[in-house]
Amino acid sequence: MGRVIAIDGPSGAGKSTLAKMLADRLGFSYLDTGALYRAVALLFLSKGVRPEDDDEGLEEILRRSEVRMDNGRLMLNNKDVSTDIRTPEVGHYSSVFSARKVVRDFLLDVQRQTASVSDIVVEGRDTTTVIFPDAWKKFYMDAPVSGRARRRYLQLRQMGMDVTEEDAEKDVIERDNRDSKRDIAPLMKAGDAVIIDTTDKSIDEVLNCLLGACR
Ligand code: DC
Repeated sequence: MGRVIAIDGPSGAGKSTLAKMLADRLGFSYLDTGALYRAVALLFLSKGVRPEDDDEGLEEILRRSEVRMDNGRLMLNNKDVSTDIRTPEVGHYSSVFSARKVVRDFLLDVQRQTASVSDIVVEGRDTTTVIFPDAWKKFYMDAPVSGRARRRYLQLRQMGMDVTEEDAEKDVIERDNRDSKRDIAPLMKAGDAVIIDTTDKSIDEVLNCLLGACR
């Protein structure tokens, strides 16, 4: 296993942007673990799976499926789904289905496997606590709901989605609750993570903070 820089935090804290920039600057590869959960949600939605379905049904579908990163593209059963996973609906169901043990077990191997081949910056909800508890560097990025909702809203509008700022805020609050209150691998601050509040910080300031801690 190469060196792992793990970054956790709630929805809309700016993890993806910063993790990507950090990976570029250090020459590490980059893994967005949320994208993997989104791919599973997309898979389940395409098969008509409902949140109340039992584990056996979910497991059967997962057993016959493959999720992997290929040159920065997210592949679900050999189809590039990098764009399809970005809808608010898939975002919602990724949070719902991520609470299921079968889903987390399935993606654990995918994440560790991806990190086994190179130095990597990985970001998500449980990368510092469960997936890579011995990561070389750990960070927790946070910001208040209002700032995160605004960032989410702007991202979705930029992608051409018809959402309001209220929709984005409602989604962020719901996801915060679900992601941090679930029984398995909830979002939490690792005791040994550097905590970065991105409020009132420019992207460059946060990047410098991350780079400083990695040097
Ligand atoms: O980072 P994101 O918004 O794309 O993540 C989508 C959902 O996936 C998020 O609401 C919770 C889940 N997730 C998770 O449970 N564990 C991770 N390591 C990453 C994401």
